[in-house]
Amino acid sequence: MMDAIAELRKRYLAQVVGAPDPDALETVRLAALGKKGEVSLKMRELGRMTPEERQIAGPALNALKAEIDTALRARRAALDDAALDARLRAEWLDVTLPPRPRPRGTIHPVSQVMDELTAIFADMGFAVAEGPQVESDWYNFDALNIAPEHPARQEHDTFFMHRAPGDNRPPHVLRTHTSPVQIRAMQDRGAPLRVIAPGRVYRMDMDQTHAPMFHQVEGLAIDRNVTMAQLKWTLEEFCRAFFELDAVELRFRASHFPFTEPSAEVDIRCAWVDGQLKLGEGDSWMEILGSGMVHPHVLRSGGIDPEQWQGFAFGLGIDRIAMLKYGIPDLRAFFDSDLRWLRHYGFAALDLPDLPSGLSR
Ligand code: PHE
Repeated sequence: MMDAIAELRKRYLAQVVGAPDPDALETVRLAALGKKGEVSLKMRELGRMTPEERQIAGPALNALKAEIDTALRARRAALDDAALDARLRAEWLDVTLPPRPRPRGTIHPVSQVMDELTAIFADMGFAVAEGPQVESDWYNFDALNIAPEHPARQEHDTFFMHRAPGDNRPPHVLRTHTSPVQIRAMQDRGAPLRVIAPGRVYRMDMDQTHAPMFHQVEGLAIDRNVTMAQLKWTLEEFCRAFFELDAVELRFRASHFPFTEPSAEVDIRCAWVDGQLKLGEGDSWMEILGSGMVHPHVLRSGGIDPEQWQGFAFGLGIDRIAMLKYGIPDLRAFFDSDLRWLRHYGFAALDLPDLPSGLSR
């Protein structure tokens, strides 16, 4: 028996040390210590031995089992270490490689300005309202007190949509201003009301300062005691906050819009210095908005009783104020999709403007 044990010991310890990988090692383990392994079978023979024989063979077999087990563990650890070393050598990262290029996209100045003015008006309690760009004739004109024969219809250089042949209803239009959103907001939300409506508008017009598609933001405030003074205050506060300048100067000129009475156009003082627009200085004035007290007919179109409520409204050219604030000389470049222009005038994608951290950082 003791010879057999010595032989097993020699053979299995050699096999353990020689196992080239974890699978081979497991095969060795099963052959020695598995249920039907040679060492296990030997242990079963103990039952058939005399007590004397067993006293010698029992401890010897236990010692053999423990020794092989220890050798197996040591070999497994060595194989694992070698495997890890091999992985570390194979899977490496060259941290000296240059980083990936920065994302190229930027926020268009028009989007930036919309975010900025939304932040300013939100702070004054204005919610954002929206309306369709393809608008019905009624919302774009009639509801705003622009009758079919009114000259303002021609002045608006309207783009008309097609109607099916034989359909004699007035065609839809590409909205010529954001004012139809006044009507929709009144109908949807009722009074009192404070909304702005930024968005695209369309007129058949194209030169250095006009594009057939441009952007306006409409403002509308309706309450029981709204006055022209509040309109002026609101616009001045807005301009100060938007242009981030205390010295902005506005000029209110009496004007006429069918949907406001009285009406005022508002200009901002500016100068051209070396081809760049400068604000709050110089002798030039740039018209930036139209405004006035909401006409009673318009309130009625929106389902609001003009005996109970008054309102002020304004419409502001977003592209204009973007040019003024950021010194952009040519309006047409806004819509050329020229990557060099966008990289120069665009804004970082994740810097959302808000009042506490500064609008244009
Ligand atoms: N809708 C007018 C325009 O496009 C601007 C405006 C809006 C004027 C609201 C007065 C009140 O010219």
